[in-house]
Amino acid sequence: MKAAVYKSYGTPEVLKIEEVEKPSVQDSPDRVLVKVYAASINPFDVLFRRGYLPTRLSNGLFKPKDHVLGIDVAGVVEAVGANVTRFKPGDRVFGGCFGSHAEYVTPREKGLVLMPTNASFVDCATISCAGMTALQALQKVAGVKPGYKVLIYGASGGIGHFAVQLAKHFGAEVTAVCSTGNQGWVRALGADHMIDYTQQDFSKNGQRYDLILDAVGKRTYASCKSSLTPTGIYISEHPLKPVAQIPQWIFSQMTRDPHFKTHLTEGNTDDMQFLSNLLEEGKLRPVIDRCYPLAQIVDAHQHVENGHTKGKVVVEVAS
Ligand SMILES: NC(=O)c1ccc[n+]([C@@H]2O[C@H](COP(=O)([O-])OP(=O)(O)OC[C@H]3O[C@@H](n4cnc5c(N)ncnc54)[C@H](OP(=O)(O)O)[C@@H]3O)[C@@H](O)[C@H]2O)c1
Repeated sequence: MKAAVYKSYGTPEVLKIEEVEKPSVQDSPDRVLVKVYAASINPFDVLFRRGYLPTRLSNGLFKPKDHVLGIDVAGVVEAVGANVTRFKPGDRVFGGCFGSHAEYVTPREKGLVLMPTNASFVDCATISCAGMTALQALQKVAGVKPGYKVLIYGASGGIGHFAVQLAKHFGAEVTAVCSTGNQGWVRALGADHMIDYTQQDFSKNGQRYDLILDAVGKRTYASCKSSLTPTGIYISEHPLKPVAQIPQWIFSQMTRDPHFKTHLTEGNTDDMQFLSNLLEEGKLRPVIDRCYPLAQIVDAHQHVENGHTKGKVVVEVAS
């Protein structure tokens, strides 16, 4: 089968389309063989490809141990392992899976859910990482309730555009922060208030928020603290970015500062099903910036690496 393979860390050009062995579920009873139709690209893929230091600790200090990127997938079940009960060949599924920038993958059964009949492979491929991150931040970490005042910083990105929609779904009053060109479509996702970060610094407008979700790691806790209500919390999706934030993040962890939270998205079948139901009911709408064929993986990585994705970038592996 074909896969986008990287054997050294570096620029997008380290990615090459190569023939690799097709995986099998014969010796993996809890896994499902999925023919990949679409897989999205996340900043996570860029960090691994570049060899960002924390990723090297798990994937090889000098060269990558795992050669295929991709963490979410939408496709069709081709075979199931001996213990798999929820899926059968022919089912359309989506979820989380390492190595999805390839023609076939073998995710664990618990990482997958059935696709809604009215959803496309491209839409479903955007959900598992960015959608789950937004959901878990809002629901599990912040416990957003009706009436909460929520500010989403980086509202036009993968996580941010899902967070705007989910916060509205939970009944919050949502302020979305993004640049001038993204104001219109992000407002159309349901945001109550818009702030253009190129024109105005929200932390100087005197407003207080129950939750500030920094979806793109461009702010620091220090710069947001005065905009929190007395019980408000700041969540950073990337606590090591910007670098200036690292000492404060370490301090907040040591002192267990209740206002500064981070989290690492965890695979969770119930959360995936929750998002799938919203997708089916038309209450969650992935915005697709651009789709690339697998052969153009280098361009797709370049696009995401530029840091100005509008919603999600997707790789179409089969059609
Ligand atoms: N905690 C976790 O488990 C977890 C899981 C997934 C991802 N992450 C992290 O979350 C971060 C965001 O992921 P993502 O998929 O949402 O990224 P993304 O889609 O690549 O974010 C792109 C967006 O960032 C916005 N942006 C760029 N510079 C900005 C600035 N100075 N101020 C405000 N917005 C700005 C851009 O809007 P403009 O074009 O308008 O500038 C663009 O829409 C990444 O650092 C990723 O590593 C964490």
